[in-house]
Amino acid sequence: MDIKNIKSEFPIFKQKVNGKPLTYLDSANSSQKPKAVIDRISNFYETEFSNVGRSVHTLAVKATNRFEDVRDKVKAYLNAKHREEIIFTKGATEAINLVATAFGEKFINKGDEILTTELEHHSNYVPWHFVRQKKGAVIKFASVNEKGEVDLDEIKKLITNKTKIIAITHISNVTGTIMPIKKIIDMAKEKKIPVLIDGTQGAPHIKLDLQDLDCDFYAISCHKMYGPNGLGILYSKKKWLDEFPPYQGGGGMISEVFKDNVTFASTPTKFEAGTMQTAEVVGFSEAINFIENLGIEKINKHENEILEYGIEKLKRNNSVNIFGDPKERGSVISFTMKGIHPHDIATILDEDGVAIRAGHHCCQILHDKMGISATARASIGVYNTKEDIDILCDSINKCKKVFNI
Ligand SMILES: Cc1ncc(COP(=O)(O)O)c(C=O)c1O
Repeated sequence: MDIKNIKSEFPIFKQKVNGKPLTYLDSANSSQKPKAVIDRISNFYETEFSNVGRSVHTLAVKATNRFEDVRDKVKAYLNAKHREEIIFTKGATEAINLVATAFGEKFINKGDEILTTELEHHSNYVPWHFVRQKKGAVIKFASVNEKGEVDLDEIKKLITNKTKIIAITHISNVTGTIMPIKKIIDMAKEKKIPVLIDGTQGAPHIKLDLQDLDCDFYAISCHKMYGPNGLGILYSKKKWLDEFPPYQGGGGMISEVFKDNVTFASTPTKFEAGTMQTAEVVGFSEAINFIENLGIEKINKHENEILEYGIEKLKRNNSVNIFGDPKERGSVISFTMKGIHPHDIATILDEDGVAIRAGHHCCQILHDKMGISATARASIGVYNTKEDIDILCDSINKCKKVFNI
């Protein structure tokens, strides 16, 4: 596969949007899917479909084996230590809710502290807010500066003997800040504090070795990794999963059920209640193949070239203010234009077939801190080219004309 011509692997780019070729700059929201992933899902439904982990007929056994093979594949991809550390969820949101609920239930009491940052997506704040409400815990926020960075010294000071968990993002979905997660994990380890990484924006772009990183939890969105919608992964060190109470009750997650008592399966089954996303899990295997065939480092290098080109070009436009200026940035450029609401920018760009996102990107705390309500965000995936950035910039100039600025 040639990274320069990778768009041809994605059927969605064959169509026109509003009469123009699709310029998709919304991968931080959800990535497009390569044909191999789409074909694998449709082939699975056409020839192999069955529910998993239940019946003993041939299709069911095969489907269960396929499903479990993907768990092994994800374990290898992330370099997790045990296959039981990989839990399939409906997204990163559910992965974080699982940890917050189970960890909160078992290990957090009144007055205990949860340390997070002002950069977090609502998915890595609201679940902890529930724990605060339920248990009387305290949430502490490491502050973010104008550049979109956090200060390690401040984080060190915010860690106290009441800190029970640290929950931070790997890469900000607004400023693109690549967080110093290894340093934070090492700092936390000295005090034996577990760390959850919201890896939603990290996993699609950065090589991961979770044994080396040594975080306790890492949440992944498969739909941002060229994989199917409705699928996420929670990586958790096994020792936590063995201790956690179940997150949801239902079929599959039990050992025995009596009128007066229920016992539970061991991990990972204990955390996968009900019918799972069979075709999506099987399809995700092809997304990993896609990434591995190209090489995540090569993908990262390509995206960085497009990102740098985009930042340089947008910086030359006097009407554009880029939001944040972190030293290390992932594939996200959020911006505002004086006198034009971000939703108007996104609407005008859409007329040119340019898909971006506008709003607070589920990061209201960060936007409040910066004193604005919304930004426009262009985010880059493996299929983007410098030409896409040129089209984006031309369309931004059209906004200036429409609004006469
Ligand atoms: C940083 C971050 N965390 C969490 C999420 C939620 O992920 P999911 O859609 O898989 O639930 C997103 C999605 O945009 C995100 O960008």
